[in-house]
Amino acid sequence: MSAHPNHFAPLARLLHWLMALMIIAMLFIGAGMVASVSERHAWLIHLHKPLGIAILLLVIVRLVVRFSTRQPLLSADLPTWQVLAARASHVLLYALMLTLPLLGWAMISAAGDPVMLASAWQLPSIVPANTALFTFLRKAHGYLAYLLFLTVLVHLAAALFHGWVRRDGVLQSMLAGKDH
Ligand code: HEM
Ligand code: HEM
Repeated sequence: MSAHPNHFAPLARLLHWLMALMIIAMLFIGAGMVASVSERHAWLIHLHKPLGIAILLLVIVRLVVRFSTRQPLLSADLPTWQVLAARASHVLLYALMLTLPLLGWAMISAAGDPVMLASAWQLPSIVPANTALFTFLRKAHGYLAYLLFLTVLVHLAAALFHGWVRRDGVLQSMLAGKDH
């Protein structure tokens, strides 16, 4: 058994791809929501809230898995700036996966609305009702959602660069491989 495996742990891979699908769906649901009125808006927001809270719970599980399993090493010939960029972008992705759902939850609390996940499932308010705070949180949620979108696009480009141009096993490490 080597100190560093060639692949991410199977549970880490499952969570990575499941959450990638959920987050990409959330970005489109969110953007679709603010561009719609009437019934479609209500339908989308009923999907947006529980899916966002599920992401919050899953990222906590994912961080526990992250720190209790071993990660593959990047290849030694990767330029330092790319190693640093990979680390920084991963930290940013984790930070946004945590803060965006919390901002969404806080935003609805600040609006003074009940935070309903389903017709009979209400979450507690996490901040007091306050119009100025709502305005700030609403803007922060929007800007950070688009920052997440941008980071995911750069991350996708980097993954494909590793898989198709460098062919150094990084993309493969998130796709397949037996547990060590
Ligand atoms: C990873 C999780 C999340 C992502 C990626 C996400 C993404 C988005 C996006 C892209 C928008 C549109 C922003 C704009 O154009 O200004 C939005 C709006 C919104 N989000 Fe989220 N969101 C997440 C979690 C949540 C959660 C957990 C809640 C509430 C419990 C929430 C509540 C809202 C609300 C109320 C709006 C504004 C809707 C409107 O003005 O019509 N979001 N979100
Ligand atoms: C919403 C979308 C996504 C999010 C939030 C996300 C997030 C992350 C995070 C946080 C890591 C770091 C794992 C760790 O070391 O703990 C990671 C690694 C990785 N992701 Fe993603 N990811 C997304 C989509 C994708 C897509 C679409 C691809 C490829 C087509 C991809 C390929 C990879 C690869 C190859 C790694 C391993 C990188 C390495 O070893 O340094 N990801 N992802």
